[in-house]
Amino acid sequence: MSVIYLDNNATTRIDPEVVEAILPWLGEQYANPSSVHHFGQQARHAVEIAREQVAAAMGVRERQIVFTGSGTEANNLAIRGVLAARPEKRHVVTTAVEHDSVLRPMQQLEREGYRVTYLGVDSLGHLDLSELEASLSDQTALVSIMHANNETGVIFPVEKVAALTATKGIPLHVDAVQTTGKVRDASGHSPLNLDDVPVDLLTASAHKFHGP
Ligand SMILES: Cc1ncc(COP(=O)(O)O)c(C=O)c1O
Repeated sequence: MSVIYLDNNATTRIDPEVVEAILPWLGEQYANPSSVHHFGQQARHAVEIAREQVAAAMGVRERQIVFTGSGTEANNLAIRGVLAARPEKRHVVTTAVEHDSVLRPMQQLEREGYRVTYLGVDSLGHLDLSELEASLSDQTALVSIMHANNETGVIFPVEKVAALTATKGIPLHVDAVQTTGKVRDASGHSPLNLDDVPVDLLTASAHKFHGP
């Protein structure tokens, strides 16, 4: 019996080309990229090449790329990082349909005394932008919103959300784990043209699009 795998939103098969590219770094070239010796510097070079390639695909500068171990870790780092930089603001806006890697940190923030607004969606899974606008205040430290929903596939209008948050000077984090590598904008960037759309932090996860 042949098996057809239909769970690519959960994870994808790593591409054989990717396996070939990373194998040396799992085998003989195992050095720490922070080591100053030759092997370490070779590993450092490989990380920097990878950073250049990711930055080019995303349409951003290399120094804007931060590698993490997973999308879950990146979401936590993005949320915690913004809040640590703006400790006087104690309100966060997100949606009720985020992935657990956003919802659970939000629940923890509530236990720590933050006020969290969870925007609802209608029966088709769509957001009400006027509800979003009404929720924003000068106490809002962050808006964290997903690009595409991992269960319904609904794509949120991040461009419109970004226009709102930028006008009010509120940092915007977009969980683009389900669109990076799958959805491209009109300029061919994956998944949004970050030159045109004022997103401050964006999460992507390689294992969702045939990476490790
Ligand atoms: C929308 C969304 N965000 C975040 C994650 C977490 O990504 P990772 O599995 O890389 O931790 C997932 C995983 O399914 C997801 O679908």
